[in-house]
This record gives sequence, structure tokens and C-alpha cells, in this order.
Amino acid sequence: MNILLIGSGGREHALAWKMKQSQLCSRLLIAPGNSGTAACGENVAIRPDDFQGLKALALREQIDMLVVGPEDPLVLGIWDFFKNDPDLQHIIVVGPSQEGARLEGSKAFAKAFMQEFGIPTAAYREFDAAQMEEGLAYIAAHSLPVVLKADGLAAGKGVLICTDTDEAQREFRAMLGGKFGQAGSRVVVEQFLSGIEFSVFALTDGHSWALLPEAKDYKRIGEGDTGLNTGGMGAVSPVPFVDAELMDKVKTRIIEPTVRGIAARGMAYHGFVFFGLIRVDGEPYVIEYNCRLGDPETEVVLPRLQNDLVELFVAMAEGRLVEVSISSDARAATTVVLVSGGYPEAYEKGKPIGGLEWVEGSMVFHAGMRAQEDGQLLTDGGRVMAVTSYGADFREALALSNVNAGRIFFEGKYHRRDIGLDL
Ligand code: AMP
Ligand code: GLY
Repeated sequence: MNILLIGSGGREHALAWKMKQSQLCSRLLIAPGNSGTAACGENVAIRPDDFQGLKALALREQIDMLVVGPEDPLVLGIWDFFKNDPDLQHIIVVGPSQEGARLEGSKAFAKAFMQEFGIPTAAYREFDAAQMEEGLAYIAAHSLPVVLKADGLAAGKGVLICTDTDEAQREFRAMLGGKFGQAGSRVVVEQFLSGIEFSVFALTDGHSWALLPEAKDYKRIGEGDTGLNTGGMGAVSPVPFVDAELMDKVKTRIIEPTVRGIAARGMAYHGFVFFGLIRVDGEPYVIEYNCRLGDPETEVVLPRLQNDLVELFVAMAEGRLVEVSISSDARAATTVVLVSGGYPEAYEKGKPIGGLEWVEGSMVFHAGMRAQEDGQLLTDGGRVMAVTSYGADFREALALSNVNAGRIFFEGKYHRRDIGLDL
């Protein structure tokens, strides 16, 4: 098969690395990709939101399968664009329809969906600008902390956990006043859940589903989970506290009703559902849905997945996921993300990267990285690379990733050394 993968982060490098191993993959193109994906296939300089450009590429290269890494093209309707075009509709698209992607693209949509199908989540109300006074009164009566969420995609910045009422009301006004543009035209106000978070990934055809290894990511910039939120500083899989009993509850109370809800609503959904979950007093609740794999979770989930990923995508497209059995590596995997100095605030790009040749026993997934014409690798983003290792347990895997992270150098390099150590 000729496969086109879109995206350019560490997640996409891991997807490209995994699909390249498939017997079914004859050619792999990545748009636009990065220096890591270039080693797995051919990078093509087309942006993920340039649907016309992707169409021309898909036709020219006789693409059989489109795999969508990030959420933006899904929320913009890339599935619908391909399926509504007679020249493209034969192509397998891994990712939900625009309607399905609203599970990630609209927090209000996701909350209403969970409520309709009885899926455990924090109690909430949603408000638009016309309901400003009602919302302020609701917040005044709400217990603290209170969680405010801009309805739409806000580049990971749209969630605020407020510990005092004045601050919550001020932020609520700012959101409805346009702080996040259109994304904040509606605001979800919800109950704060106190517990420990973890992530579960299912591949679904909208009726049946297959469960991938679970993971836990670390979003804060500082060790001990302190400081600003980031896209993700590291991840582990498996997650020690996710035992069979908790996973059974996740399956019966969350995954099954979600897939039943997708079917009941008649939503076209052929792709990943990423369940952002929290365990509160032993019970799982949904914090959020995403319509794609996580980054950096993918950099530990795919190294542990032993199935052929392209075969799984074909089974999904043919409605045969029930026949699939997922097997995962018994070893633990830990990934440590190396970031540019200053991230997640202002940082510089273009710093030469060295030392990769000294890495031993870990895999390096490129994220914000590019190669100069002479082959010199340069930093090209906040999250620069993810260093993944296996170990008998996640501590052993972490130790190896930390050693190898120390062998890589670029000006301003920073990484956390404590990924998973709270578990
Ligand atoms: P989200 O953008 O929905 O992933 O939210 C970002 C982060 O905010 C989550 O990963 C949680 O750590 C936190 N969060 C969101 N909603 C809640 C909630 N209801 N209770 C506690 N923490 C939350
Ligand atoms: N690591 C969290 C995410 O991909 O949304």
C-alpha cells in the first residue's frame, strides 16, 4: 500500500517508524514530516490543512491510505473532504469525520455526549456570551476549585483551574470576551476532580474497537509536576495503578458506551479515540476526549504494540476489529522529551544538535527538528525530541532514557528527570 501520513511531531515520527515495519507498507510519504520521518519515508512539503495540496499528492502518488496524526485537519473535516470526493473516496482515512472530531473540537459537544450516554465525567454547565450574568452567578455559587474550559481548540491553553471565585469570574468574562477568539465563544464551567490521570487509546470503526496499551503523560514543565503546562514532557506505559479491575471499569463504563454513542448518533468514526481519564476514589471519569493519538504518549504506546499497525488500520476499514487481538510488549517503556530552553514560553530555534551517535539502547523520535542541507540537525520547535527506552519496569526504562538524554546536546537543552517517579 502507498500510505500518506500527515503531521510533523514526535507522534508522527513514531507512527512512521511503526508503519514502516509493516509488510503491507510499500511506500510511505509524510506531509510535511520532520528529520526523523525522512528516515522512514519521503517527506513532502505540504501543510496538513492544505487539503487541495494533499488531494493532488494523493492522486499523483496513488495513495491507498491517509493517516492523520494531529487534530486540526480532523476538526477541519479532512475525512469529509476525502469521502465526498469521487476521486478520493476509495482511500482509507484513519481519523474520524468532522462530526466525530467534535468530541475533541468542542468541549460542550463532548460533555453533552457524555451526559446523553451516561459516561462518568465532572458535573458541568455551559454558557455563551448572552448568558454572562447567569454564568457569573453559577460560578459564585460553585465550590472551589472550579474548572473553566473554552469550548473550542485553544492550543492546549483553554483550560483554567481557578482557586478563587473572583479570578474565575474574571477569566470567565475574558473568555467570553474573546480571549481565545472563537474558541471561547462558549465556556464550560465544571467541577474539579481530584485524582490521578491516565490515558487510554482505542482504535474504532464506530461499532467495534481494539484497545492499545495505556499510558500516562507528564504535562508540567518542572520536576515534581510544577510550573507551566506543556504539550507533554514525557510518558510511561504501562501505568502501574491501572490494574485489571480499573481497566474493566474503563471498558464497561467508558469505552463501550462511547462507541455505542458514536453508533447511536450515526457519527462516521474510523480512527483513534484518546480517553483522557482520571481515577477518583478508585473510579474512572473522563476529563476529555481527543480524536487522535497523544504526543508523547504515542512514543511509548507504539513501541509496546506488537501488532502490525497497518494491518490494524485495514481491519478497521473493513469492520473486522472484533477479530483482532492486541498484543503488547511485556516490558515497560518510558519516554523523556528534550525541549528548547524557555519552552513553553519564548524559545529560540535553529540550534545545532549533536551527540545522537552516542545514544545507546534508546530510540530517539524527532519532534521539532530539521536537517540542514549538509545534514546538520537543528532544533525547530519547543519540544525537540523524545528519547524512549524499554526496561523491566518504568524506572529502569527512565534511567536509560536519562542517560541517553545526557549524551545529546544543543544550546538550552532541558528535560525532566522524574518521568514516572511518582507512580
Ligand atoms: P484538557 O485540555 O481538557 O486536557 O485539560 C487540561 C488539563 O486540565 C487536564 O489534563 C487536567 O489535568 C486538567 N483538568 C481538566 N478538567 C479537569 C477537571 N474537571 N478536574 C480536574 N482537572 C481537570
Ligand atoms: N499529551 C497530550 C496530548 O497529546 O493531548
